[in-house]
Amino acid sequence: MRIRKSGLERFRFVFIMLFIIFNGIKSVSAEDKVVVWKSPTCGCCEAWITYLEGEGFDVVSHNIENVVPIKNRLGLKDPALYSCHTAVVSGYVIEGHVPAMDIRRLLNERPDILGLTAPGMPQLSPGMASIIPKNYDVLSFNEAQQVEIYSRY
Ligand code: CU
Ligand code: CU
Repeated sequence: MRIRKSGLERFRFVFIMLFIIFNGIKSVSAEDKVVVWKSPTCGCCEAWITYLEGEGFDVVSHNIENVVPIKNRLGLKDPALYSCHTAVVSGYVIEGHVPAMDIRRLLNERPDILGLTAPGMPQLSPGMASIIPKNYDVLSFNEAQQVEIYSRY
């Protein structure tokens, strides 16, 4: 016969609740927030932001007439790597129409790079004409602006 729940059971319940709450907070922590800079008239930038939000990212966006000084300040200096918008997540630069899966992989693996870029405006990219990335490469780049292929689509 059980008269009352054991102390251990109660402790376990509290522990599980705290775990759930803590993880809830962690998933919306400032660390993983995507901060975007874009021009006020950029439609594809807006579409990429909506796509990322749909993928569960917490996005804050800033409108600015000229995004180039932001890119440069963040260490992205080679114009060949530029795209329409520039973002930062957890200390990494995300330039242009980078798919959510690459951002997730980046946050998991935490490589020693400055960030990821999808240079130019890949036509079949999320925020452009295809939510499923096709026919372009996502590159990683470092401070010296050296690139490597991060993902091929
Ligand atoms: Cu764009
Ligand atoms: Cu954009």
